[in-house]
Parts: sequence; structure tokens; C-alpha cells
Amino acid sequence: MFHVPPGRGADFRRQFTARVSLTGSPYDVSGVWRYAELIMSVPPGAVVSFPEGNTPLLSNERVSSWAGCQRLQLKHEGMNPTGSFKDRGMTVGVTQARRVRASAVACASTGNTSASLAAYAALAGLPALVLVPSGQVAAGKLHQTLAYGARTLAVRGDFDACLALLRDAAQRLGVYLLNSVNPYRIEGQKSIVFEMLQQLDWKAPDWIALPAGNLGNTAAFGKALDEAARLGLIDRLPRLLAVQAAGAAPFYQSFVSGFHERHSTRAETIASAIRIGDPASYDRGVRAIQLTQGVVVSVPDAWILEAQRYIGGAGIGCEPASAASLAGVRASVDSGLIGPDESVVAVLTGHLLKDPFIADTSDVIRGLGQDRNEPIEVDASLGAIEREVAGLARN
Ligand code: F0G
Repeated sequence: MFHVPPGRGADFRRQFTARVSLTGSPYDVSGVWRYAELIMSVPPGAVVSFPEGNTPLLSNERVSSWAGCQRLQLKHEGMNPTGSFKDRGMTVGVTQARRVRASAVACASTGNTSASLAAYAALAGLPALVLVPSGQVAAGKLHQTLAYGARTLAVRGDFDACLALLRDAAQRLGVYLLNSVNPYRIEGQKSIVFEMLQQLDWKAPDWIALPAGNLGNTAAFGKALDEAARLGLIDRLPRLLAVQAAGAAPFYQSFVSGFHERHSTRAETIASAIRIGDPASYDRGVRAIQLTQGVVVSVPDAWILEAQRYIGGAGIGCEPASAASLAGVRASVDSGLIGPDESVVAVLTGHLLKDPFIADTSDVIRGLGQDRNEPIEVDASLGAIEREVAGLARN
């Protein structure tokens, strides 16, 4: 607990607003380092930044109607430099790695953390080691990780096995571990909440919905909200809605048991980013839910894909795990948990292009196939194109 003098919140609000800029130091141009006083104190010259953050809050009538929630906004973290929210934690984590003169950095990943680690390590000139579950990483993420030059090991095992292995071995291997068990990652990810609150003119929404896998982000959101409330940046706490895929829902099972039991499971879901059966940040995740009177829900893959289709159809787009946020909002409006007049920000954690081939591999998608938008092959003739344009007008 820390004591903050009354009025400090207003000072910070003014300072953060004054900093928004297109040019200048990372403190001005990065949507993470803008909040440095609440994250990490470091001279701007020591910061490893692309920059990152500054992601939009979007709304769309059709998406809101599908969710049954008119006051819904989407915070699109897929607009970060490597296409996911991980960049916010990674800029802080890699900055710290350089400060402690780490000789190499490493992570286990379902794909986004590894893409982000590889990019920031390249920026900092540090070698990077990545462990991913073999055959289970979305194509865009694997391609990024390799292109940014990380030594990439495809481990015959799932994400939980990769992380357990690396946590055991990091010290022996002499690498600096940059999974979200690293507290600096969490500090950076807090900026999603700070930036969202600033975009809302420091008026907290009723709910913040986010996908939950390893629970680093859930932990970061809880910590950020706690600090924002203590500082007087906001005058009430939003409730967190942590959303898991039904086939990878150990946190949900624990929530249902009143957090009396810690569950783990063999995870299976098309949302490969959150295919995690034994979340490493479980304890901090529980604290975040309890602090915010939050709720954990689980949604079937078919709902995730339908939500993804609506987000795509709005021209926004996101990867499947991100669409879990929206699916969770809809499920919670349906169940009466979220009132139709309540305000909700749903976080889209990763970009659509992260997972471009999901359509080809999933039985669930094939089940929904009739609704999918497919290319229509035509002859190279004006007549063929005219026939399709006529069809377009009828739709
Ligand atoms: N959404 C996306 C797109 C993710 O990549 C992840 C996690 C999550 C949500 C869940 O966040 O783990 O903090 O609860 N991806 C990690 C990775 C595990 O390795 O990229 P969490």
C-alpha cells in the first residue's frame, strides 16, 4: 500500500495529457512510457521502445448489437508494433534486461510473447531464445519470431510444459526470463488500463473485459486499477470480466469453486493464444478478480468464432483469443450479469493477421462454414464480374 497526497491524481492527469505527442522522447511518444511514474523510473535514453501503445478505442453499431450492449467500446491492442498487447510489457521487460546487463533474453510462448520478445531483443541488440509448443503456434506469430531473429525451439509438448521447462532452466542457461512472471512485464501491461482511462477522460467504465490465459494481463489490470483508484485518477473501480475458452478454463473452474481450489487442465481451444491449462499468474489473477469484484466466464469456441466474425465484419478484425472478450460480454449480457445500460470496454489483444490460416484447420470453423466469406473464383471476363456485382447489390 502506498499513500498518495490528495490532489495528486489531478496533477498526474494533467501531466499525462500534456505528454501526448508525435515527437520527442519515449515519455512523450510511447503509450507505455507516458505513464513512467506509475511503471518504472528510468532515464528516457535507457528505454528500448518502438514506440508502442497509443491504441484506439473503437465502437461499432453491429458489434454492440450482437453483444447486446450499446455502450461497448473495443480497445484494439492489435495495433501495437508487433500486433499484440505484449509489446507494452516487453518494452519495460527488455529495458530492464539491458539495465541488468542480461546477456540473453528468453520466453516460453503461445506465439505473441515470442514475436514481441524477438522484436524488442533485436531492437536492443540482445540474443533471444524462444520455446514454443511444436505445431501449435499460429503462422503469423511464428513467422514474426523467426523473422526478428530469435533462436526458436519447437518443443514437443504444450505451452505449460514449455514454461515449466524454461522457469526451471533459465538461471542455468544464463538467460533473462521475460514471461509475465517477470514483474516488469506486468508493470508495462498496466499501461493498457491507464491509457484506456485517459481516453475515457478518466471516467471509469462499469466493466473491462479481457481474454484470460496465463493471467499476466488479468494481474496487470487489477494492479493498474488498484493504483489508479488509490492515486485518485479514477473515483471508482470497474469490474473485470476475465474470459476463458471453454476448453481451456482452469481459472473459470477455480472461480466457480469460490477460488477454494486451484484447477489445472489439458487445454484445447481454437484460440491458440490462450491454450493454457495451468496459468502461472494464478494468485495475482485471483487478487485482481477479488479486488474489482470481477467475474470469470467461459465461452465455447463457436461463440469465439462468431464474435471474431462480427469484429472482422466491422473492418476492425482481431485474432480468435481476442474475440473471446466480446463473446464473454455477450454471454454476460445474456445471463443478466452485465446490464444493457452498463458501459464496457472489451480489450482486443491481438491482430487479425496473427492467425490467418485458422479457417483451414478447425472443425468448429467448418461447422460454421456456411457463414464464411470466401473468395469467388471467376473467369477473367467482364460478364463474370458483372454477374457477381449484381449478386453484391442483392445482398
Ligand atoms: N490474448 C492474446 C492474443 C494472447 O496472446 C494472450 C497470451 C492472451 C490473450 C492471454 O493473456 O496470458 O496474460 O492471460 N499469450 C501468451 C503468449 C501466453 O505466449 O503469447 P494472459
